[in-house]
Amino acid sequence: KKQIVVLGLESSCDETAASVVTGDGAILSNVVLSQTDAHAPFGGVVPEIAARAHIVQMDRLIAQAMTDANIDFSDLSAVAATAGPGLIGGVLVGLMTAKAIAAVADIPLIGINHLEGHALTARLTEKTTFPYLLLLVSGGHSQLLVVEAVGKYRRLGTTIDDAVGEAFDKTAKMLELGFPGGPAVERAALSGDPKKYALPRPMKGREGCNFSFSGLKTAVRQLREKMGPNATSQEISDLAASFQQAAIDSLVNRTQHAVDIFKDEFPDGDTLVVAGGVAANQYLKLELTKLTQFCKIKLAVPPPALCTDNGAMIAWAGVEKYKLGQFDSLALAARARWPLDPNAEP
Ligand code: KG4
Ligand code: ZN
Repeated sequence: KKQIVVLGLESSCDETAASVVTGDGAILSNVVLSQTDAHAPFGGVVPEIAARAHIVQMDRLIAQAMTDANIDFSDLSAVAATAGPGLIGGVLVGLMTAKAIAAVADIPLIGINHLEGHALTARLTEKTTFPYLLLLVSGGHSQLLVVEAVGKYRRLGTTIDDAVGEAFDKTAKMLELGFPGGPAVERAALSGDPKKYALPRPMKGREGCNFSFSGLKTAVRQLREKMGPNATSQEISDLAASFQQAAIDSLVNRTQHAVDIFKDEFPDGDTLVVAGGVAANQYLKLELTKLTQFCKIKLAVPPPALCTDNGAMIAWAGVEKYKLGQFDSLALAARARWPLDPNAEP
């Protein structure tokens, strides 16, 4: 029997990406082009600039991914693309390109929920089995979910205001550390004292698994303003470290509640998976290692390059759906909003 080979396209935010992954989880190619430089002057992703950059780069990246994988379009079993949620102009670029490939190569189209791509990555990198607990932390999302099967997600908690990645990005902007903010804050924090500034631990100690990060962001802004224009780089590093500590304390506390709920309801489940761009943070990984050792469950964190947006996670989600025979028609619509758990609002 011919082996499964899926091309995956990602273009929902500021990474244009194409990757070829096989049915048994071999990543034959993984090409990612970040638009960081184009957005840096604005301190955040500008949707129109992102969409145009995806259009300019997508064809070339696909050609590169196919060459790297040393295959032809006729070798593909299916083509998968992010169909949402995300910046709609960008999502359309990848999805329309995938439709064209599906039509011309006469192979199935598989539309992928971007969050599902993040959610299933740990099954590509560590062969994690269902059910597992998922901490999904990115620029647009902070959620705790039980992943029961492909397509079956139950949300335990979400943010009531900002996403944690957004808090990293805004903190970086306030501290003038550059863009993208997450890696910049993590780098600055390495030379800072996390105990220097007392910042709030949002939601810590409260019932349930919801997050909140806007109060922490405001506290950082007030401290930064108090420091004035002559703040030293040591003070900036101390504030970055204090922010990172507070944000991660809050994530860990919420996750601990979720682990308790998960272990109660799913005695067979034995793994906490972390996914999304913020999962690339090594301090978060360290703190979650302590938590999972304490709670006696396994921790699965994909390597940083597969935590931030990439095509391999989309191709792999495509492989998972291909195995279940879940294909889409060429009429599939792109979606700006698309919750993983349809019963959870918004
Ligand atoms: O998953 P992702 O690449 O794109 C979205 O779907 O949002 O996540 C991007 C987010 C950004 O907010 C970025 O600042 C954050 O992930 N991020 C990090 C780190 N690397 C990326 N946050 C903290 N520490 C990092 N090392
Ligand atoms: Zn993402």
